[in-house]
Amino acid sequence: MTVNGATPLGATTPEEAAFAQDVPRGEPILEVRDLLKHFPLTKGVLFKKQVGAVKAVDGVSFDLMQGETLGIVGESGCGKSTLAKVLMNLEPATAGSVKYKGEEISHLSGAALKAVRRNIQMVFQDPYTSLNPRMTVGDIIGEPYEIHPEVAPKGDRRKAVQDLLDVVGLNPEYINRYPHQFSGGQRQRIGIARGLALKPEIIICDEPVSALDVSVQAQVINLLEQLQGEFNLSYMFIAHDLSIVRHISDRVGVMYLGRMVEIGTDLEIYEHATHPYTQALLSAVPVPDPAAREHRDRIVLTGDVPSPANPPSGCRFRTRCWKAQEKCAKEDPALTVRDWLDGRARHDSACHFAGERENLI
Ligand SMILES: Nc1ncnc2c1ncn2[C@@H]1O[C@H](COP(=O)(O)OP(=O)(O)OP(=O)(O)O)[C@@H](O)[C@H]1O
Ligand code: SF4
Ligand SMILES: [Mg+2]
Repeated sequence: MTVNGATPLGATTPEEAAFAQDVPRGEPILEVRDLLKHFPLTKGVLFKKQVGAVKAVDGVSFDLMQGETLGIVGESGCGKSTLAKVLMNLEPATAGSVKYKGEEISHLSGAALKAVRRNIQMVFQDPYTSLNPRMTVGDIIGEPYEIHPEVAPKGDRRKAVQDLLDVVGLNPEYINRYPHQFSGGQRQRIGIARGLALKPEIIICDEPVSALDVSVQAQVINLLEQLQGEFNLSYMFIAHDLSIVRHISDRVGVMYLGRMVEIGTDLEIYEHATHPYTQALLSAVPVPDPAAREHRDRIVLTGDVPSPANPPSGCRFRTRCWKAQEKCAKEDPALTVRDWLDGRARHDSACHFAGERENLI
Protein backbone atom coordinates (compact mmCIF):
# COMPACT_ATOMS: atom_id res chain seq x y z
CA MET A 1 0.00 0.00 0.00
CA THR A 2 1.20 3.54 -0.64
CA VAL A 3 0.01 6.74 1.00
CA ASN A 4 -2.49 8.47 -1.26
CA GLY A 5 -1.79 5.98 -4.05
CA ALA A 6 1.46 7.65 -5.20
CA THR A 7 4.94 6.16 -5.32
CA PRO A 8 7.28 7.25 -2.52
CA LEU A 9 9.77 8.27 -5.18
CA GLY A 10 7.39 10.48 -7.19
CA ALA A 11 9.57 13.40 -8.33
CA THR A 12 7.82 16.47 -9.67
CA THR A 13 10.58 19.13 -9.81
CA PRO A 14 14.06 19.00 -11.42
CA GLU A 15 15.58 19.20 -7.92
CA GLU A 16 13.53 16.22 -6.81
CA ALA A 17 14.42 14.33 -9.98
CA ALA A 18 18.09 14.61 -8.98
CA PHE A 19 17.30 12.53 -5.87
CA ALA A 20 14.73 10.22 -7.44
CA GLN A 21 16.88 7.24 -8.37
CA ASP A 22 16.31 4.07 -6.41
CA VAL A 23 18.88 2.84 -3.91
CA PRO A 24 19.02 -0.98 -3.74
CA ARG A 25 18.22 -2.49 -0.35
CA GLY A 26 21.36 -2.80 1.76
CA GLU A 27 23.18 0.03 -0.06
CA PRO A 28 23.79 3.35 1.73
CA ILE A 29 21.02 5.91 1.33
CA LEU A 30 22.83 8.36 3.64
CA GLU A 31 26.62 8.62 3.98
CA VAL A 32 27.89 10.77 6.83
CA ARG A 33 31.61 11.60 7.02
CA ASP A 34 33.55 13.58 9.65
CA LEU A 35 30.48 15.58 10.58
CA LEU A 36 31.01 18.48 12.96
CA LYS A 37 28.52 20.72 14.71
CA HIS A 38 30.12 23.23 17.04
CA PHE A 39 28.02 25.84 18.87
CA PRO A 40 30.11 28.99 19.50
CA LEU A 41 30.54 30.12 23.12
CA THR A 42 30.63 33.91 23.22
CA LYS A 43 31.50 36.58 25.79
CA GLY A 44 30.48 40.24 25.92
CA VAL A 45 27.15 41.99 25.30
CA LEU A 46 27.78 44.53 22.55
CA PHE A 47 30.93 43.10 20.98
CA LYS A 48 30.47 39.37 21.12
CA LYS A 49 33.77 37.54 21.13
CA GLN A 50 33.99 33.79 20.58
CA VAL A 51 35.78 32.20 23.52
CA GLY A 52 35.26 28.55 22.63
CA ALA A 53 32.73 26.09 21.24
CA VAL A 54 30.42 23.34 22.45
CA LYS A 55 31.53 20.42 20.27
CA ALA A 56 28.12 18.75 20.23
CA VAL A 57 28.94 16.59 17.19
CA ASP A 58 32.67 16.28 16.66
CA GLY A 59 33.71 13.99 13.84
CA VAL A 60 30.89 11.49 13.29
CA SER A 61 30.98 9.05 10.34
CA PHE A 62 28.51 6.29 9.48
CA ASP A 63 26.22 5.01 6.72
CA LEU A 64 22.46 4.55 6.90
CA MET A 65 21.47 1.66 4.64
CA GLN A 66 18.36 1.55 2.49
CA GLY A 67 15.52 -0.10 4.38
CA GLU A 68 17.37 -0.54 7.68
CA THR A 69 16.83 0.79 11.18
CA LEU A 70 19.96 2.25 12.70
CA GLY A 71 19.61 2.76 16.45
CA ILE A 72 21.62 5.52 18.12
CA VAL A 73 22.27 5.32 21.86
CA GLY A 74 24.36 7.26 24.36
CA GLU A 75 24.02 9.31 27.54
CA SER A 76 22.16 12.61 27.70
CA GLY A 77 24.12 15.41 26.04
CA CYS A 78 26.30 13.17 23.83
CA GLY A 79 24.97 14.86 20.69
CA LYS A 80 22.21 12.56 19.40
CA SER A 81 19.58 15.27 18.80
CA THR A 82 22.15 17.66 17.36
CA LEU A 83 23.22 14.94 14.91
CA ALA A 84 19.57 14.45 13.92
CA LYS A 85 19.04 18.19 13.38
CA VAL A 86 22.14 18.52 11.23
CA LEU A 87 21.08 15.54 9.09
CA MET A 88 17.66 17.17 8.70
CA ASN A 89 19.36 20.44 7.74
CA LEU A 90 17.56 22.14 10.63
CA GLU A 91 21.01 23.18 11.87
CA PRO A 92 23.87 23.91 9.46
CA ALA A 93 26.89 21.60 9.79
CA THR A 94 30.13 23.27 10.92
CA ALA A 95 32.09 20.91 8.66
CA GLY A 96 31.92 17.44 7.13
CA SER A 97 29.91 15.70 4.48
CA VAL A 98 26.39 14.26 4.28
CA LYS A 99 25.50 12.45 1.06
CA TYR A 100 21.95 11.43 0.27
CA LYS A 101 21.88 8.86 -2.56
CA GLY A 102 25.45 9.85 -3.40
CA GLU A 103 24.71 13.62 -3.65
CA GLU A 104 26.25 16.06 -1.18
CA ILE A 105 23.42 17.75 0.75
CA SER A 106 25.11 19.48 3.68
CA HIS A 107 25.52 22.82 1.92
CA LEU A 108 22.29 22.94 -0.07
CA SER A 109 19.91 25.89 -0.05
CA GLY A 110 16.76 27.01 -1.88
CA ALA A 111 14.85 24.56 -4.08
CA ALA A 112 17.45 21.80 -3.79
CA LEU A 113 17.31 21.92 0.03
CA LYS A 114 13.51 21.87 -0.10
CA ALA A 115 13.61 18.78 -2.32
CA VAL A 116 15.89 16.92 0.09
CA ARG A 117 13.90 17.98 3.15
CA ARG A 118 10.87 16.30 1.66
CA ASN A 119 12.68 12.97 1.65
CA ILE A 120 14.09 13.13 5.17
CA GLN A 121 11.51 13.68 7.90
CA MET A 122 11.59 13.61 11.68
CA VAL A 123 9.37 12.30 14.47
CA PHE A 124 9.98 14.11 17.74
CA GLN A 125 10.05 12.96 21.34
CA ASP A 126 7.26 14.77 23.02
CA PRO A 127 3.84 14.43 21.39
CA TYR A 128 2.47 16.88 24.00
CA THR A 129 4.60 19.83 22.94
CA SER A 130 5.42 19.08 19.30
CA LEU A 131 1.79 19.44 18.11
CA ASN A 132 0.30 22.95 17.96
CA PRO A 133 -2.68 22.89 20.39
CA ARG A 134 -4.60 25.49 18.37
CA MET A 135 -4.52 23.54 15.11
CA THR A 136 -6.83 20.67 14.16
CA VAL A 137 -5.29 17.31 13.48
CA GLY A 138 -6.14 17.77 9.81
CA ASP A 139 -4.22 21.06 9.66
CA ILE A 140 -1.27 19.61 11.59
CA ILE A 141 -0.88 16.57 9.35
CA GLY A 142 -1.61 18.57 6.19
CA GLU A 143 0.69 21.51 7.03
CA PRO A 144 3.68 20.07 5.08
CA TYR A 145 1.51 20.25 1.93
CA GLU A 146 1.59 24.06 2.18
CA ILE A 147 5.33 23.88 1.48
CA HIS A 148 5.07 20.98 -0.96
CA PRO A 149 1.70 21.42 -2.71
CA GLU A 150 2.87 19.10 -5.50
CA VAL A 151 2.54 16.09 -3.15
CA ALA A 152 -1.17 16.70 -2.49
CA PRO A 153 -2.93 19.43 -4.51
CA LYS A 154 -5.44 21.50 -2.49
CA GLY A 155 -8.54 19.55 -3.53
CA ASP A 156 -6.97 16.23 -2.54
CA ARG A 157 -5.66 17.23 0.87
CA ARG A 158 -8.56 16.20 3.06
CA LYS A 159 -8.55 12.74 1.52
CA ALA A 160 -4.73 12.54 1.79
CA VAL A 161 -4.87 13.41 5.51
CA GLN A 162 -7.70 10.93 6.15
CA ASP A 163 -5.68 8.22 4.39
CA LEU A 164 -2.74 9.04 6.67
CA LEU A 165 -4.93 8.87 9.79
CA ASP A 166 -6.08 5.45 8.62
CA VAL A 167 -2.50 4.32 7.94
CA VAL A 168 -1.41 5.15 11.52
CA GLY A 169 -4.44 3.45 13.04
CA LEU A 170 -6.60 6.49 13.86
CA ASN A 171 -10.20 7.05 12.83
CA PRO A 172 -10.21 9.27 9.68
CA GLU A 173 -13.28 11.02 11.12
CA TYR A 174 -11.08 12.56 13.83
CA ILE A 175 -9.68 14.99 11.26
CA ASN A 176 -11.35 18.06 12.87
CA ARG A 177 -10.34 17.26 16.46
CA TYR A 178 -7.63 19.05 18.43
CA PRO A 179 -4.49 17.47 19.98
CA HIS A 180 -5.83 17.68 23.56
CA GLN A 181 -8.66 15.32 22.58
CA PHE A 182 -6.14 12.50 22.07
CA SER A 183 -4.06 10.30 24.40
CA GLY A 184 -0.24 10.42 24.37
CA GLY A 185 0.04 7.33 22.13
CA GLN A 186 -2.57 8.72 19.72
CA ARG A 187 -0.72 12.03 19.57
CA GLN A 188 2.49 10.26 18.64
CA ARG A 189 0.52 8.52 15.87
CA ILE A 190 -0.46 12.00 14.65
CA GLY A 191 3.23 13.01 14.74
CA ILE A 192 4.09 9.91 12.70
CA ALA A 193 1.28 10.65 10.19
CA ARG A 194 2.71 14.14 9.76
CA GLY A 195 6.17 12.65 9.24
CA LEU A 196 4.75 10.40 6.50
CA ALA A 197 2.75 13.16 4.73
CA LEU A 198 5.45 14.00 2.19
CA LYS A 199 6.20 10.33 1.44
CA PRO A 200 9.77 10.48 2.74
CA GLU A 201 12.35 7.74 2.37
CA ILE A 202 14.16 8.39 5.64
CA ILE A 203 12.56 9.09 9.02
CA ILE A 204 14.69 10.20 11.94
CA CYS A 205 12.93 9.30 15.17
CA ASP A 206 14.32 11.22 18.15
CA GLU A 207 13.18 9.44 21.32
CA PRO A 208 9.76 8.76 19.75
CA VAL A 209 8.40 6.70 22.64
CA SER A 210 10.31 8.05 25.66
CA ALA A 211 7.41 10.27 26.79
CA LEU A 212 4.84 7.45 26.52
CA ASP A 213 3.59 4.86 29.02
CA VAL A 214 5.36 1.51 28.72
CA SER A 215 2.15 -0.19 27.55
CA VAL A 216 1.74 2.32 24.72
CA GLN A 217 5.40 2.27 23.69
CA ALA A 218 5.09 -1.22 22.19
CA GLN A 219 2.08 -0.18 20.08
CA VAL A 220 3.95 2.80 18.61
CA ILE A 221 7.07 0.67 17.97
CA ASN A 222 4.92 -1.95 16.22
CA LEU A 223 3.35 0.78 14.08
CA LEU A 224 6.79 2.11 13.08
CA GLU A 225 7.90 -1.41 12.12
CA GLN A 226 4.75 -2.01 10.10
CA LEU A 227 5.12 1.33 8.26
CA GLN A 228 8.75 0.58 7.45
CA GLY A 229 7.69 -2.55 5.58
CA GLU A 230 4.82 -0.82 3.81
CA PHE A 231 6.70 2.26 2.64
CA ASN A 232 10.26 0.92 2.37
CA LEU A 233 11.49 3.45 4.93
CA SER A 234 14.98 3.78 6.39
CA TYR A 235 14.97 4.77 10.06
CA MET A 236 17.46 6.40 12.34
CA PHE A 237 16.08 5.63 15.79
CA ILE A 238 17.47 7.60 18.72
CA ALA A 239 16.59 6.36 22.21
CA HIS A 240 17.80 6.01 25.79
CA ASP A 241 16.16 2.63 26.31
CA LEU A 242 18.65 0.02 25.13
CA SER A 243 16.06 -2.79 25.14
CA ILE A 244 13.76 -0.89 22.77
CA VAL A 245 16.69 -0.01 20.51
CA ARG A 246 17.69 -3.67 20.34
CA HIS A 247 14.14 -4.69 19.50
CA ILE A 248 13.75 -2.29 16.58
CA SER A 249 17.29 -1.90 15.19
CA ASP A 250 19.21 -3.82 12.53
CA ARG A 251 22.40 -1.98 13.51
CA VAL A 252 23.27 0.17 16.49
CA GLY A 253 25.67 3.10 16.87
CA VAL A 254 26.92 4.15 20.32
CA MET A 255 27.75 7.83 20.87
CA TYR A 256 29.94 9.39 23.57
CA LEU A 257 30.74 13.09 23.86
CA GLY A 258 30.08 14.03 20.22
CA ARG A 259 31.64 10.90 18.71
CA MET A 260 30.48 7.50 17.47
CA VAL A 261 32.50 5.03 19.56
CA GLU A 262 31.14 1.70 18.34
CA ILE A 263 28.83 0.57 15.55
CA GLY A 264 27.65 -2.85 14.44
CA THR A 265 24.69 -5.19 14.08
CA ASP A 266 22.42 -5.56 17.09
CA LEU A 267 24.05 -8.93 17.88
CA GLU A 268 27.58 -7.51 17.56
CA ILE A 269 26.81 -4.63 19.89
CA TYR A 270 24.58 -6.34 22.46
CA GLU A 271 26.41 -9.69 22.71
CA HIS A 272 29.95 -8.85 21.55
CA ALA A 273 30.60 -5.20 22.47
CA THR A 274 34.30 -4.33 22.37
CA HIS A 275 34.29 -0.69 23.55
CA PRO A 276 34.44 -0.19 27.34
CA TYR A 277 31.76 2.52 27.18
CA THR A 278 29.30 0.23 25.38
CA GLN A 279 30.09 -2.52 27.88
CA ALA A 280 29.33 -0.17 30.76
CA LEU A 281 26.06 1.00 29.19
CA LEU A 282 24.94 -2.59 28.59
CA SER A 283 25.90 -3.74 32.07
CA ALA A 284 23.33 -1.29 33.44
CA VAL A 285 20.39 -2.68 31.40
CA PRO A 286 17.88 -4.40 33.71
CA VAL A 287 17.89 -8.20 33.32
CA PRO A 288 14.48 -9.82 33.93
CA ASP A 289 15.87 -13.31 34.78
CA PRO A 290 16.94 -13.32 38.50
CA ALA A 291 19.50 -16.13 37.95
CA ALA A 292 21.19 -14.26 35.10
CA ARG A 293 21.04 -11.06 37.16
CA GLU A 294 23.00 -12.69 39.98
CA HIS A 295 25.87 -13.63 37.68
CA ARG A 296 26.00 -10.29 36.04
CA ASP A 297 29.03 -8.15 36.55
CA ARG A 298 27.85 -4.56 36.52
CA ILE A 299 30.33 -1.86 35.55
CA VAL A 300 29.78 1.31 37.54
CA LEU A 301 31.24 4.32 35.76
CA THR A 302 32.84 6.85 38.03
CA GLY A 303 33.30 10.55 37.28
CA ASP A 304 31.08 12.95 35.40
CA VAL A 305 30.82 13.19 31.63
CA PRO A 306 33.40 15.83 30.63
CA SER A 307 32.16 19.06 29.06
CA PRO A 308 31.76 18.93 25.27
CA ALA A 309 33.36 22.40 25.25
CA ASN A 310 36.57 20.91 26.58
CA PRO A 311 36.80 17.18 25.80
CA PRO A 312 39.79 15.15 27.11
CA SER A 313 42.81 14.69 24.83
CA GLY A 314 43.19 11.39 22.97
CA CYS A 315 40.28 9.09 23.79
CA ARG A 316 37.37 11.08 25.17
CA PHE A 317 36.28 8.21 27.38
CA ARG A 318 39.65 7.90 29.13
CA THR A 319 38.66 9.92 32.23
CA ARG A 320 36.05 7.25 33.06
CA CYS A 321 37.64 4.16 31.52
CA TRP A 322 39.03 1.36 33.71
CA LYS A 323 41.24 0.14 30.84
CA ALA A 324 42.88 3.50 30.10
CA GLN A 325 46.64 3.54 29.51
CA GLU A 326 49.18 6.19 28.53
CA LYS A 327 48.44 5.78 24.83
CA CYS A 328 44.79 6.72 25.45
CA ALA A 329 45.71 10.28 26.50
CA LYS A 330 48.00 10.79 23.51
CA GLU A 331 46.25 9.17 20.56
CA ASP A 332 42.68 9.61 19.45
CA PRO A 333 41.44 6.07 18.68
CA ALA A 334 39.94 5.71 15.18
CA LEU A 335 36.56 4.03 14.70
CA THR A 336 37.79 0.92 12.93
CA VAL A 337 38.06 -2.89 13.09
CA ARG A 338 41.12 -3.99 15.12
CA ASP A 339 43.27 -6.82 13.66
CA TRP A 340 43.14 -9.01 16.75
CA LEU A 341 39.36 -9.27 16.88
CA ASP A 342 37.48 -12.14 15.34
CA GLY A 343 33.96 -13.51 15.00
CA ARG A 344 31.23 -11.05 15.95
CA ALA A 345 33.75 -8.90 17.80
CA ARG A 346 35.13 -7.86 14.38
CA HIS A 347 33.25 -4.60 14.00
CA ASP A 348 34.05 -0.88 14.21
CA SER A 349 35.11 0.27 17.67
CA ALA A 350 37.01 3.43 18.66
CA CYS A 351 39.24 1.86 21.32
CA HIS A 352 43.01 1.20 21.21
CA PHE A 353 42.43 -1.91 23.32
CA ALA A 354 39.08 -3.08 21.95
CA GLY A 355 38.04 -6.49 23.20
CA GLU A 356 35.04 -8.40 24.52
CA ARG A 357 34.70 -8.34 28.28
CA GLU A 358 35.58 -11.99 28.89
CA ASN A 359 38.45 -11.57 26.46
CA LEU A 360 40.06 -8.36 27.66
CA ILE A 361 43.54 -7.81 26.25
N1 LIG B 1 21.65 25.41 20.32
C1 LIG B 1 22.63 25.02 21.14
N2 LIG B 1 23.55 25.90 21.60
C2 LIG B 1 24.56 25.52 22.40
N3 LIG B 1 24.74 24.25 22.82
C3 LIG B 1 23.86 23.32 22.41
C4 LIG B 1 22.76 23.65 21.55
N4 LIG B 1 22.04 22.50 21.31
C5 LIG B 1 22.68 21.52 21.98
N5 LIG B 1 23.75 22.00 22.65
C6 LIG B 1 24.69 21.24 23.49
O1 LIG B 1 25.21 20.19 22.69
C7 LIG B 1 25.37 19.00 23.46
C8 LIG B 1 24.60 17.89 22.80
O2 LIG B 1 23.20 18.13 22.97
P1 LIG B 1 22.09 17.18 22.36
O3 LIG B 1 20.77 17.79 22.63
O4 LIG B 1 22.42 16.89 20.94
O5 LIG B 1 22.29 15.84 23.21
P2 LIG B 1 21.39 14.53 23.27
O6 LIG B 1 22.35 13.36 23.11
O7 LIG B 1 20.27 14.61 22.31
O8 LIG B 1 20.87 14.54 24.77
P3 LIG B 1 19.47 13.98 25.36
O9 LIG B 1 19.65 12.48 25.46
O10 LIG B 1 19.38 14.62 26.70
O11 LIG B 1 18.36 14.38 24.43
C9 LIG B 1 24.92 19.35 24.87
O12 LIG B 1 26.06 19.68 25.62
C10 LIG B 1 24.02 20.53 24.67
O13 LIG B 1 24.01 21.36 25.80
S1 SF4 C 1 41.09 3.94 24.00
FE1 SF4 C 1 41.78 3.69 26.09
S2 SF4 C 1 40.53 5.09 27.33
FE2 SF4 C 1 39.56 4.87 25.34
S3 SF4 C 1 38.06 3.29 25.63
FE3 SF4 C 1 39.89 2.28 24.86
S4 SF4 C 1 41.04 1.67 26.69
FE4 SF4 C 1 39.49 3.15 27.35
MG1 LIG D 1 18.19 14.59 22.53
